[in-house]
Amino acid sequence: MKGIILAGGRGTRLAPFTRLIKKELLPVYNKPLIYYPLMTLRNSGIDDVILVSDPYNIHAFLDVIGEGEDLGMRIRYAIQNRQLGIADAIMQAKIFFEEGEPVAVILGDNIFTENFKEAVKEFSKGACIAVTQVSDPERFGVVSMEGDRVVKIIEKPEKPESNWAAVGFYVYDGTVFKRIEKLVPSARGEYEITDVNNQYLQEGSLKCAKMKGEWFDAGTFDSLLSASNYFGSKK
Ligand code: DAU
Repeated sequence: MKGIILAGGRGTRLAPFTRLIKKELLPVYNKPLIYYPLMTLRNSGIDDVILVSDPYNIHAFLDVIGEGEDLGMRIRYAIQNRQLGIADAIMQAKIFFEEGEPVAVILGDNIFTENFKEAVKEFSKGACIAVTQVSDPERFGVVSMEGDRVVKIIEKPEKPESNWAAVGFYVYDGTVFKRIEKLVPSARGEYEITDVNNQYLQEGSLKCAKMKGEWFDAGTFDSLLSASNYFGSKK
């Protein structure tokens, strides 16, 4: 399976640094952030990757990770001209996929201490999302669960109905690009990944994997610091 890694957002929560350096190239302990999701993909058995970023920063990623030769991976690049959301960013990598080919997606600011080898190996159709329990669900896509079954997902609700968050790793069947084409922008003007997941959910073809390890969405100073401290203490 090929993977898409998304590194094209604005990173406003980490300004002023992100005016100069792309969020995914900021340091997490001793490595640029982007290494961590790349390693999660590799450890999940995915070594053929398309990195999506804006036209001004592709060269910076090329300088740091190149075509993946030092990591034993193949990394190719796709450009997202306007930051219109996660689903729009996924769409920019479509040309690298054959009709019907499944797709793994990882967010470039998400750090996992586990891999998704099983979820990738067992995937056959529909969609699979990963979920974990958090103390600040209002920051995320919030998932209402009945046992192991997802019943509802709401993007950043003011009053979350549960403390389960959808984390930034997803596996989709080959219908995902057609689904994104049909999306309309949300109230905040973005093509939302949660809307894609809700399409699969309504058709009864969304599965979820409950995470066991640690997870950091390194998009804020606090989470970036927690991630650095975590990896610094493990050396
Ligand atoms: O971290 C998990 C959360 O990620 C999920 O719970 C939410 O459902 C999901 O919407 C997302 O929320 P965030 O607000 O954290 O997303 P963010 O804007 O930080 O973007 C996540 C990554 O996607 C980041 O590395 C940049 C990339 N991205 C984002 C946008 C909006 C793009 O490549 N292009 C874009 O247009």
